[in-house]
This record gives sequence, C-alpha cells and structure tokens, in this order.
Amino acid sequence: MSKKLLLKDAHIEGIRYLETYRKQGGYTAAEKALKMTPDEILEEVKTSGLRGRGGAGFPTGMKWSFLAKPEGVPRHLVVNADESEPGTFKDRYLMEFLPHLLIEGMLISSYCLGSNVSYIYIRGEYSWIPDILEEAIDEAKAAGFLGKNILGTGFDCEIYVQRGGGAYICGEETALLESLEGKRGNPRLKPPFPAVKGLWERPTVVNNVESIAAIVPIIDITGAEYAKIGIGRSTGTKLISACGNINKPGVYEIDMTITVEEFIYSEEYCGGIPNGKKLKACIPGGSSVPIVPANLLLKTVNGEPRYMNYESLADGGFATGTMMGSGGFIVLDEDQCVVEHTMTLARFYHHESCGQCTPCREGTGWMHKILKKIEKGEGKMEDIDLLWDIQRKIEGNTICPLGDAAAWPVAAAIRHFRDEFEWHVKNPELCLTQNYGLANY
Ligand code: NAI
Repeated sequence: MSKKLLLKDAHIEGIRYLETYRKQGGYTAAEKALKMTPDEILEEVKTSGLRGRGGAGFPTGMKWSFLAKPEGVPRHLVVNADESEPGTFKDRYLMEFLPHLLIEGMLISSYCLGSNVSYIYIRGEYSWIPDILEEAIDEAKAAGFLGKNILGTGFDCEIYVQRGGGAYICGEETALLESLEGKRGNPRLKPPFPAVKGLWERPTVVNNVESIAAIVPIIDITGAEYAKIGIGRSTGTKLISACGNINKPGVYEIDMTITVEEFIYSEEYCGGIPNGKKLKACIPGGSSVPIVPANLLLKTVNGEPRYMNYESLADGGFATGTMMGSGGFIVLDEDQCVVEHTMTLARFYHHESCGQCTPCREGTGWMHKILKKIEKGEGKMEDIDLLWDIQRKIEGNTICPLGDAAAWPVAAAIRHFRDEFEWHVKNPELCLTQNYGLANY
C-alpha cells in the first residue's frame, strides 16, 4: 500500500473546516516553518527533490531559488489551479476536500518566497470551489494564520482567489498571469521566466496546487525523509486521477514505486477493466502526453516493468515512451477507436488554441478537419501522411506548449496505431457502423 501524505485525512468528516483540520495536526507544519528562516525552508524543499506536479516536473526548489529579489520590488506566489487538462481532476479533489492543506502550504511557501500577497487562480468551470477556498481563507485569517503579523512573526500575508473564465490556455503560466492582470490570456514569450518578470512584471513563482500542498508534509517530516519515499528523481507521493475504461475511477495517491500494471489491475487502485475487456492503450499524464499501446505500457523498451514515475514512463523518449505529465491517467479498452479518440482531442485543442501563433491556430483546425474526414470514412491514404506532416510543423514552433500538446497525441496515435488509420481509409462503409476496435482487435 502506498504511503499517504496528502490524502491521509481526506476521508475525515469535516476536514474541510479549520477545527477538524487542526485536530488532525493541521497548521503545525506552518508553526514549525515560521520559526525557520526562509533559506532553511528552501533547503528542505530542495532536499525533498519535489518536482512540479502540474505536468512539467520542474524541480520546485530550483524554481524557488531562481526567484529574483530586487530591492523594494514586491514578489508573489501564484497557485495555478486552472486544472483543465482532459483527464486531470486531482487538484479539484484537493481543493474541495482539503482546502486548508493548500492554504497552509501557501502560507509556508509565501513566507519562504517573501510574498505578502499570494493568489489562487482557479478555472471558471470549478464554480463551487472558490467559496470553499474563501471560507478556509477566512477561517485561517480569523485564527491568525493569515493577515498581519502572522503568529507574532512580523510576516504579513493575504491570499486572494481569482476565477478564470474557462479557457484552457489560461493554465499556461504566462497566459494565467496576463489573465490575472485583467487582460486576454495570451501566453508571453519565455524567457524572461515569471521568476524574474511575472505578475505586473514582478518576480513571481507560479506553482501547481498539488506542489504547494506537498510543502506541508515536506516541512512536517523534513525534506530528507520525503526524498526517501519514491524512487530516483521521482520522490515523494503523486496524485493520479484515473478515468476511462476502469472499474474504479477516482483520485489515488501513489508513491511512484508501483508498476503501471499494478495500478490498472489491483483492487487498491483502478480495479481492472470492466467486463474482462483487454487493455488497448493508455494516456498516463493527461491528454497532452503521447498515447502508449498496451505492450509498451506494461514494459519499457528494455523489457523492464514500467513504473508509475517520471523516468520509467518516459523511457524510450517520445518515440516509445510517454510522460507522467499532470497525472491524468486515461485507460482505453479494446473496443475504443484510436482515430475517434484522437479526433476528439484535436477538436479540443483547436477550440482552445488562443490563435496567437500561426502553426497552432491553423494547424490544430487543419488536423481536426482531416481526422474528422478519416474517422467518417472519407479519408485518403495521403491524409495520414499529411496529418503527420502538419503535427511535425506545429511541434516546437509556437510560443507556448499548447502547440506541442496538440501535436504529440496525433504523432503518437499515427506512430503506434497507423493500421487503425489505414483501416478507416480502406473500409469507409464500416466506419459508419462499427469502429476499428470492435472490428479488429
Ligand atoms: P516548462 O517546462 O516551460 O516550465 C516548467 C516550469 O519551470 C515553469 O514554471 C517555468 O517558469 C519554470 N522554468 C523552466 N525553466 C526555467 C528557468 N530557466 N528559470 C526559471 N524558471 C524556469 O513547462 P510548462 O509550460 O510550465 O508546463 C507544460 C506542462 O504542463 C505540460 O508538459 C503538461 O503536462 C502540463 N499541463 C498541465 C495542465 C493541467 O491542467 N495540470 C494543462 C496543460 C498542460
């Protein structure tokens, strides 16, 4: 059984409220941290090996150490709660059931970074969660954990919740900052990174909800103890939101030493695939990461078992491996049609492209159009090559990674399931009545 650090109290009734959270030891990590110096906290975070839980896996301690500190310029912590990656709903779970864990993590992080005004930017569709967060903020403030002179330390901190308008692009950190400033959420060129020029051109750390929540156990048990959990550079625990063709969809906390096979089939996690169906493929890190067929999902290219961690999932690079990403684990059984699935994702990226970069604006729509044609049985063999060509011309040629995120699923689908695309071209009459999965798997 995986060790639980974040969700250990999630089942306790009333844990959303300060009184119950305190009874479970809540805010003792903050009390401990506020007696440490900011540099000591930073050292703990670096030692923990925590990697950003939003998807990129960038080392959190390193990001914090990049924060510029020009004299007299305010600095900010911004929590990215714009969780919009299809298949990803772990941050929603954290905020809904454990809002004080996030607030406590923000208090410790704000103190370490020197942020007196910190923000939570939350996606518009999570319409009921800002009230939960604001209630927790009010409770924390009334108890002296936020506001002026927190616990008599002289440190002041306010936290504000900002609702997004429901655009996927606003999860990209610089688009998020633009939106927070009241502008249209168009991504900025990087560098400069937000750590140097972020919100209102001030040094800003943008971190995912889960990353900030993880600061609490890191301070609680120490960075060194946190680093002992997991394996290699995949330290600590990770939240996975599991969905698709599995018996037990939900949010699971894993310690990154379990295999993909164990995660899918064991009763503790996904509980296997309904109706005894065969596993066809999986997208383990949210819709942006490459789809992997079952044979490669359960074994690495070297024939080793594939583990649920950053290194093992990426084994083989983009040609055969995939990514841990945001931990949105989507399972496809033998009846699913990869072409239809890829077309659905292409429609999403086309709809969500901000339109700033030509390859993304034009390419996502073009890919969607071709995929729709192929899926309906109206495609030609050349369309598959054209699709390949378009995705290659998008990847790496846009300001933000939305272009890559739109290109990779198409590339991986063609690379691993070309026969399925060809079946659609060769069997136009069957496309209307059945899918490749049902016909051939
Ligand atoms: P990135 O690799 O560009 O940056 C990661 C973080 O490290 C950023 O905060 C960046 O500012 C910081 N960073 C990198 N180099 C730095 C430097 N030299 N100095 C200072 N800071 C530096 O990746 P990005 O664009 O932040 O995230 C992409 C990932 O987001 C994708 O791989 C995808 O998995 C994930 N994603 C997650 C979503 C969700 O809903 N959770 C939605 C869409 C994508």
